[in-house]
Amino acid sequence: MKIGIIVHSQTNNTYTVALKLQEKLKEAGNEIEIRRVSMVGGDRPEDKKKIQLENPPDISEYDALIFGAPVHAFALAPAMQIYMEQLPSLKDKKIALFVTKKLRFEWTGGSRAIGQMKNLCHSKEGIVMGTGVVVWNKQRDQKISEMVQRFADLF
Ligand SMILES: Cc1cc2nc3c(=O)[nH]c(=O)nc-3n(C[C@H](O)[C@H](O)[C@H](O)COP(=O)(O)O)c2cc1C
Repeated sequence: MKIGIIVHSQTNNTYTVALKLQEKLKEAGNEIEIRRVSMVGGDRPEDKKKIQLENPPDISEYDALIFGAPVHAFALAPAMQIYMEQLPSLKDKKIALFVTKKLRFEWTGGSRAIGQMKNLCHSKEGIVMGTGVVVWNKQRDQKISEMVQRFADLF
């Protein structure tokens, strides 16, 4: 299966998870590409109204997709929101979603960000198979391995 891992990542936490997913999914015989969602002018904290995407990744060639992004201000990072809004139909594509975040409490944006991504995928008829929230703390490696294994079992 050809799987696209599409990530937005400003300080590379989310990208690090993408690399681990790539390694595991490759072992299982899949073809994997990681593509980054970047902003014109660099991936610095931004004014949402001014965000412009730089060469947004084309998803048409992938059988399945994993979208990953950070939580910003208790919600999905705006660049990823804008990217996912402009996607074409996701009909019949298998999808997994994850976010990374810093604050450990449940109400600090993880579920909300995943909910936003899910709604965007469903609005484009994608099939969301699994989701994950990684809190960037000392226990993160275990959480990442667990999620990577879970996602590997989906595809
Ligand atoms: C502008 C901004 C807002 C953030 N807001 C939150 C937040 O609401 N909740 C949270 O848990 N972490 C928040 N964080 C922390 C990031 O989600 C976390 O460090 C994430 O892993 C960064 O991912 P990246 O390295 O892929 O960019 C915020 C970070 C930034 C820069």
